[in-house]
Amino acid sequence: MKILSFGSLNYDHVYEMDHFVEPKETQSSLAYARGFGGKGLNQSIALAKAGLEVYHAGRVGSDGQDFIDYLNRYGVNTDYLMKDDSLATGHAIIEVCKGQNCIILHGGANQAIDKEQIDEVLSHFEKDDVLLIQNEISNLSYLIDKAHEKGLMIVFNTAPMNEKVFTYPLDKIDIFIVNEIEGAGLAKIDTNDYQKIIEALKERFPDKRIVMTVGESGSYYIYKDTLIHQNAYKVEAIDTTAAGDTFTGFFLASYLKDQDIARALDLAAKASSITVQGKGAAQSIPGIEEL
Ligand code: RIB
Repeated sequence: MKILSFGSLNYDHVYEMDHFVEPKETQSSLAYARGFGGKGLNQSIALAKAGLEVYHAGRVGSDGQDFIDYLNRYGVNTDYLMKDDSLATGHAIIEVCKGQNCIILHGGANQAIDKEQIDEVLSHFEKDDVLLIQNEISNLSYLIDKAHEKGLMIVFNTAPMNEKVFTYPLDKIDIFIVNEIEGAGLAKIDTNDYQKIIEALKERFPDKRIVMTVGESGSYYIYKDTLIHQNAYKVEAIDTTAAGDTFTGFFLASYLKDQDIARALDLAAKASSITVQGKGAAQSIPGIEEL
């Protein structure tokens, strides 16, 4: 079984702020750093750090060689990562304030993934291999259709949640990984009551496996009559960027090893509790030995 993570790569420009910038306001940052990010890259790093062999497919621009080197440093296979000299790599502008963040995305090369690239990448994978995706690259409907046609298991982290998600063939997804806001969006329900979101998700996707993280309240695994809850580990968060990506990577890596859901939720909770104690995205994801 091979694991393909097909997703975004961004230069993250991270600004530490006294408060989030408001309309009509100009504010100086308290600190600035540039790092490697993108939900796709972060999740590939998390999978690799959790001990899995992972292939990362995606697209970077002329300035993207650093991403290839970075992924390789952690053992991620980049044979299917395309470098396109006519484009710029995606980037994100991230404000961090009291542990929380606000993110502005510029897709760049992430939005230039086309059907030709998808066909080429998928030609190296077969039935029962696993595809992990997020909502930061172009042509996701085509990717889901083609991967499903080949019999890959498809895991979809719906972040960032937006209306485009409903244009994808969601019936072909095997596992959804969401936070409570994405869960409510996916279920088309306007509430922050976790129990109501869970019920609505079950009604809308009765035969899907769903993992929902709920911040300090932990996470849930939802599948038919099975509901498993995992507490969050209490730590002081200084930057939550990539916490969800860490959770996704560690959950999936552990689940694929032995299908033990409780163990996978626990490992993912531990890993993301370490990520929130570090600054930045990919650089704050822990290695398995730290857990
Ligand atoms: O989930 C965090 C990530 O979201 C950041 O690394 C940023 O690049 C955006 O994709």
